[in-house]
Amino acid sequence: MSAEWRQFVDIGYPPIDEEHQELADLLIRFIQAIQRGVSTEIDVSMALFFDRAAAHFAHEERLMRETSWTEFERHKASHDLFLTDVGQMTGEFHRAGQVTPAMEQWAVTRLVEWFAFHIRTNDAPLGEFLATRERNGTLNRKRGPASPQPSN
Ligand SMILES: [Fe+2]
Ligand SMILES: [Fe+2]
Repeated sequence: MSAEWRQFVDIGYPPIDEEHQELADLLIRFIQAIQRGVSTEIDVSMALFFDRAAAHFAHEERLMRETSWTEFERHKASHDLFLTDVGQMTGEFHRAGQVTPAMEQWAVTRLVEWFAFHIRTNDAPLGEFLATRERNGTLNRKRGPASPQPSN
């Protein structure tokens, strides 16, 4: 990923930053596939981006629940809206069997804008909160099945 992308996806909490960097790479790959117009490449890169985004959102939502983050509902609503959007575009692509003008427009503008806007407005405050808690030693997360504690 370029330094420019890295600068805008990093929010100061490494576990989330790593996932944002991966998503930015997948997003670039997806847009390049659309521009090349190769259906199989579009299909694979879109599915991969969608899967990794869903897993990333689930991770953030778990962190928010574990730390009782006050913006949880609003943040989750933004994730849900995005996944609905991606799902609709995936459906349109499969119905049409090719990239439609609306889909291309969506990928190169709305998708990138949403990603940047969401990181800046929703993820950055969460990252700052988590990083501060971690520095203070007060990131007192409940452990769930996804992050088991070692047994003795
Ligand atoms: Fe988020
Ligand atoms: Fe995020």
